[in-house]
Amino acid sequence: MGIQLKQNGLAGFLEPEDLAGMAPLVEACAGQLARGDGLGADALGWIELPRRYDKAEFERIQAAAKKIQADSEVLVVIGIGGSYLGARAALEFVHSPLYNSRAGKSTPDIYFVGNNLSSTYINEVIELIGERDFSVNVISKSGTTTEPAIAFRVFKKLLEQKYGKPGAARRIYATTDREKGALKSLADAEGYETFVVPDDIGGRYSVLTAVGLLPMAASGIDLGAVMRGADDARAACAESDFSKNQCRQYAALRHCLFNRGKVIEILVNYEPRLTQFGEWYKQLFAESEGKNKKGIFPTSANFSTDLHSIGQFIQDGSRNLFETVLWCPKAERPLVIEADEANIDGLNFLAGRSMQFVNSKAYAGTLLAHMDGGVPNIVLELDDIDAYHFGYTVYFFEMACALSGYLFGLNPFNQPGVESYKTNMFTLLHKPGYEQGAAQLEQRLSQ
Ligand code: PA5
Repeated sequence: MGIQLKQNGLAGFLEPEDLAGMAPLVEACAGQLARGDGLGADALGWIELPRRYDKAEFERIQAAAKKIQADSEVLVVIGIGGSYLGARAALEFVHSPLYNSRAGKSTPDIYFVGNNLSSTYINEVIELIGERDFSVNVISKSGTTTEPAIAFRVFKKLLEQKYGKPGAARRIYATTDREKGALKSLADAEGYETFVVPDDIGGRYSVLTAVGLLPMAASGIDLGAVMRGADDARAACAESDFSKNQCRQYAALRHCLFNRGKVIEILVNYEPRLTQFGEWYKQLFAESEGKNKKGIFPTSANFSTDLHSIGQFIQDGSRNLFETVLWCPKAERPLVIEADEANIDGLNFLAGRSMQFVNSKAYAGTLLAHMDGGVPNIVLELDDIDAYHFGYTVYFFEMACALSGYLFGLNPFNQPGVESYKTNMFTLLHKPGYEQGAAQLEQRLSQ
């Protein structure tokens, strides 16, 4: 159960001594994380979370999810960055990218808003909700992020028009800071049920808190299985023998490849259920290690779909890439290719084979082709794609990311670069307190 790291896709790219040389550095970083004496030490609450989570709040999350399931056909989840990517990834990983359209589903449809500034998108979601009963889970640790705050204004008003102010308040669930921020003040004033983003857990490490757990539970995901997976990963990632610690080895291998000029990591999957996990991974690593002019650029690809687009580049373009392949040998719902009498498409050589058998050959063939093209491959094999493995994989990547940040000598738990666009946007919007410099920015834009 869990994740198996496979290194056969690295043959010819790294020598055994590369990994051995990196091991002590990774061990030192792991020690800093365990002792809590490294950079960003006030943001390490995620390390012990799988065994020390707030059990009372966990119960409240499950109760709120039951209420949402009982009184709502739709749940609108409002949040951006770490305040929505994990829940969205979980929904697709455990259920399906087609979750909302699944026939016979008894849990609410879930729409994610407040993660962009498109009025068209918001209007489309409102149309999709139509006359249906709905609830809102607004998620913002700071409580002041512009995108979710604007979306919340819109959906709060819709709820109040439909159910009246007290009725709306019973359908709004706010996940935010324990004490501070505009959302917390509003929630207290209006009497919304609130859930906490712990002080010592940053947005992108928060999927296993109420941030991710409430939308997951509303969709019917077994939270116990998620937390069991995360806790098993916690134990595996704490293994002190480097040769048995796959997470530390993965963190080390990424850095060995980086040192050889492979500065872009593509997280590859062969299963559409993992597409949104790729989006979560990108945010986790990009905000954690893309700073001080350092870091491995994280991106993702969905195979075999993208073998017909960026596959060309991976095979034959600039040689600064490596791939990390999330591979699951099992298909949850198999399909066998049948024989066809006419065989005009020439596919009878596959008759009786499962589609997953074809997928496995696409995976194996691509691995070798990309290696031949000069792209090293790390493989992380999952036994299953389910709630347990979601929790396991999330924790595995969180730990690998924290180790990676420390290997670069930086704080993986802040994101100072995100402020630059906000400052310019607020200045251009003439937000009170940001008036200075607007003319200069406008002049630059008009050139
Ligand atoms: O990882 C992070 O900290 C960020 O991506 C945040 O999650 C994101 O900016 C949203 O912030 P907030 O939850 O405060 O609205």
